[in-house]
Amino acid sequence: MDPFGRHIDYLRISVTDRCNERCLYCMPEGYKGWAQRADHLTADEILRIVENSTALGFRKFRLTGGEPLVRKDIVEIARRIWELPGVQTLGISTNGLLLKELAVPLKQAGVRSVNISLDSLDAAIYQKLTGGRLEIALEGIAAAAAAGFEVVKLNCVLLRGINEDQIVPLARFGATLGMPVRFIELMPLASGGPIHDGHFFSITEAMERLASHDPLELANDKPHGHGPARYYRFRGAHVGFIGSITCADFCKDCNKLRLTADGKLRPCLGRHGEIDLLPALRGETESISHAIHEAIANKPENHSFADDFQVNRPMTAIGG
Ligand code: 5AD
Ligand code: SF4
Repeated sequence: MDPFGRHIDYLRISVTDRCNERCLYCMPEGYKGWAQRADHLTADEILRIVENSTALGFRKFRLTGGEPLVRKDIVEIARRIWELPGVQTLGISTNGLLLKELAVPLKQAGVRSVNISLDSLDAAIYQKLTGGRLEIALEGIAAAAAAGFEVVKLNCVLLRGINEDQIVPLARFGATLGMPVRFIELMPLASGGPIHDGHFFSITEAMERLASHDPLELANDKPHGHGPARYYRFRGAHVGFIGSITCADFCKDCNKLRLTADGKLRPCLGRHGEIDLLPALRGETESISHAIHEAIANKPENHSFADDFQVNRPMTAIGG
């Protein structure tokens, strides 16, 4: 339990800060490309942290980045995590570009759930936003559908004036494939860059957009896990809304810690405090479990995006 009575049993692990796309909402201003840093955790170090966290009651794990699939040992990392006793569920968040080759190996390694970024179904908008090719991402999504994961979800960050016209097509596309699409409010993680407050688009407005085209009905159960998304029934499937900024109670059920690619535990995405695990990993200080306890004890009640939050680390390093 953290100081606010929340049961923390979910660790999101950023395995690299590199990426094969460059999403406008993720990339800090002036970012000069992705560097392979010497202080990145090795597969063995990640495994030791996961092992220690399962002993403390952690059950859910998700691999993120950067783009986790650019890491050459990603399938091995997934397999070794899945083989650890106490691991109940393992997910991965990806932009999908490498899923055509990796969906089946990841499924075989034990990955249960895959979240794929898809901000647009229009190739030109997709290219402008991510620097990547829509066609490749769609091939990745098809490969994930065919590989038989328990859950495949699509994520769309809402951006006024950029992809707002994609809300209806994306929701319908997800319904056709039976994949929930989640619409996410823009968090100020790359501010100062090409994406600014003027692009903010709330989930309330997104719901209104959708409801004006197709019926939207609140799903009372939690059909897709215990995350912060609120789900609605839509065309026989589900759409989700993640109101990171406008939902007052957004953090009340938060059950996670983040592990950054360079070995720091971050109790909250929207607060800067971090606890460095490297000394514990190298045996110089107290144990890894001590550091995990400390991160849980330091988990703030909520994020501080509304209080003039200043970016200090790229999203790619923290882990989406
Ligand atoms: N605001 C909201 N969501 C973001 N993501 C990345 N950057 C931001 C941001 N600034 C989300 C994307 C991606 C996931 C890994 O993190 O939806 O799918
Ligand atoms: Fe890469 Fe994901 Fe960031 Fe886009 S959101 S630049 S795909 S890490």
